[in-house]
Amino acid sequence: MILSNRFLSIVWLPRSSASCISIWISLINLLWCCVRLVLMDLSLVKKRRFLYTLDVKTLIFGSKGYLGQQFLGVYPDAATPSGNIADRAFVSRVLDEVRPDVVINAAGKTGRPNIDWCEDHKHETIEANITGPLVLLEECANRGIYWVHLGSGCIYQGDGSASLPSRLGRAETGTTGNGGRGFSEEDPPNYAGSFYSRTKAWIDQILKDFPVLNLRLRMPFDGSKNERNLITKLIKYPTVLDVQNSITYLPDFLKVAKKLIADRATGTYNVVNPGSISPYEIMEKYTEMVDPAHTFKRLRLEDLSSVAKAGRSNCILSTKKIESLPVKMKPVKEAVEEALATINNYEKK
Ligand SMILES: NC(=O)c1ccc[n+]([C@@H]2O[C@H](COP(=O)([O-])OP(=O)(O)OC[C@H]3O[C@@H](n4cnc5c(N)ncnc54)[C@H](OP(=O)(O)O)[C@@H]3O)[C@@H](O)[C@H]2O)c1
Repeated sequence: MILSNRFLSIVWLPRSSASCISIWISLINLLWCCVRLVLMDLSLVKKRRFLYTLDVKTLIFGSKGYLGQQFLGVYPDAATPSGNIADRAFVSRVLDEVRPDVVINAAGKTGRPNIDWCEDHKHETIEANITGPLVLLEECANRGIYWVHLGSGCIYQGDGSASLPSRLGRAETGTTGNGGRGFSEEDPPNYAGSFYSRTKAWIDQILKDFPVLNLRLRMPFDGSKNERNLITKLIKYPTVLDVQNSITYLPDFLKVAKKLIADRATGTYNVVNPGSISPYEIMEKYTEMVDPAHTFKRLRLEDLSSVAKAGRSNCILSTKKIESLPVKMKPVKEAVEEALATINNYEKK
């Protein structure tokens, strides 16, 4: 008491103690109220953000696959039902049970060990790559659900310098040629050399008429040991093609996909890294950065048919559309070096 009176006498001019103490108590109370209000507000903001993330329900079809797993890394709370996406009753039941805001279709047949499998399994390929997406198209539309399809750039051949006739496209008006700057999202497909590519081209063109986000990837790669990683595949090949291509670095792809999904974007997007590279150049970099003892030979395009049953698309896609987004994909050579550095790190462990 003596101490507090002294203290008050130093900081407070009127020395009459009773009124002084009550003023101080009121001031402290007022200050405490302000602090509580600020704290409450902060926790409400936090709670609102938390609720917002909880509120957005994501559902991934094909979540066990290479790309499905990647999406699951971005949306760890997503629902991951197992079943055939071409089975309307299954899709309908799952959508009604989960009531998702976003559906990601990472299901599809890409063939094992490669797309040659699709040549001999046309019905399964159609079911997964065409019937399934059509079921999703209708069932999501019926419920007003936003959905995302994983398309492929393997529906083109070349660098877009020639106006090649399309065997699959709609009206040929989009065949601009693009002067070698790569095929744009508006160019109709011009490659029909494999059954896999044909199914991807057909559904790509159908989806153009609907409010769906169609993300076109090409030869996805990352720094993992996954058997589906382009680099893992190339390491196993004794001969490697030396033709320039567009390819997709998955960490960059996921950033772009996440942004587009958050914005509820629709339409087709070529999601490949800017620039081009050949598989042969990737392997040259691999021997330089990871394993100098690794050997392989150059495969010419004209010799491809001797090692593969179905044809393979080799193409360059335009990245003009994604370059206007705030999220950027690295130049392709930088992305390859980043993936190889990651591979090198775990090779050394
Ligand atoms: N990887 C690429 O090079 C690449 C490039 C561009 C686009 N894409 C597209 O991306 C999508 C996913 O490819 P991915 O590389 O992740 O293939 P993946 O590793 O083979 O995964 C596909 C997943 O879909 C499932 N699936 C197959 N048919 C199904 C059906 N009818 N109903 C439900 N699920 C089914 C598969 O299950 P099962 O194993 O049991 O069949 C698998 O879990 C495909 O549409 C593919 O065309 C891939």
